[in-house]
Amino acid sequence: MIKPRRIGHATFETPDLEKAIAYYGEFMGLIVAERDQDRAFLATKVGQLVIQLNKADRAHCIKLSFEVAPDSDFGELARELSKDGVRSELRNDAVPGMGQVLSFKDDKGTTIELFKEWNYLAKHAQVAGIGPFKLGHVAFFTPDIQRTVTFYERVLGFRVSDWIGDFFCFMRCNPDHHTVNFFTGPDVKLHHIAFELKDFMHLQNSCEVMGQKQIPIIWGPLRHGPGHNVATYHRNQDEQVVEFFCELDQMKDEELGYFEPRPWHRDTPQRPKLWTPGKTSIWGPTPEEDFHRTQT
Ligand SMILES: [Fe+2]
Repeated sequence: MIKPRRIGHATFETPDLEKAIAYYGEFMGLIVAERDQDRAFLATKVGQLVIQLNKADRAHCIKLSFEVAPDSDFGELARELSKDGVRSELRNDAVPGMGQVLSFKDDKGTTIELFKEWNYLAKHAQVAGIGPFKLGHVAFFTPDIQRTVTFYERVLGFRVSDWIGDFFCFMRCNPDHHTVNFFTGPDVKLHHIAFELKDFMHLQNSCEVMGQKQIPIIWGPLRHGPGHNVATYHRNQDEQVVEFFCELDQMKDEELGYFEPRPWHRDTPQRPKLWTPGKTSIWGPTPEEDFHRTQT
């Protein structure tokens, strides 16, 4: 079984590379670690690569990378993938700080790259803007959610953390409540991408920055039920929904099977469960109409 330890970076195609670099650099507070005419690589202030931008005709999230254990044998992982009918190849995408990757597509056509070696790109740089800790999770619309969830369970060893109805699934690969989410939709596209902030004060500060920059908050601040994270949502330069969050539920021990107890849990212990649509917030406003606008 392949066991991703964490998400690495997400790769976006974007029609306006300069605008995207300005958003992720000046507003988000990521460091441009390397760039050329058609690509840019952005890292957190800690130095982890989190976003790759490729100039293209459309705005689309095309690839996710996941870190596997340093002693992983890519040949063995490739054989395991092939037993599941997944064709993979060893590649070197010349991503700064990263060596060889094992590349394949998931059931919905998103490229997945597994890596086991990486270097810090810009250690503890001072940043303007928000300066998130890390890339937390990426959510996709997918036309066959059961097939996608089964793929991530069977092929990549993810576990289901929560469902909302039968159309929204949260999945984990480490103590974080979710690293990928899937939402039923007619086409494969990004639902939202989420960055973890330090704490509620950091989240409040991000709201002040959005206020200064006149970036509308389209949902939140609120505390979710699934994951119990405090969150806000806005749109980036390509109209994609971006979440900032803190205080996400942690499953510290899989054998215990419950999330670390928190005062805001209504179920004690809080185990993975099925949530009722429309009743998934602990507190906070309902989404603005713009939150539901599907990006083109
Ligand atoms: Fe999220």
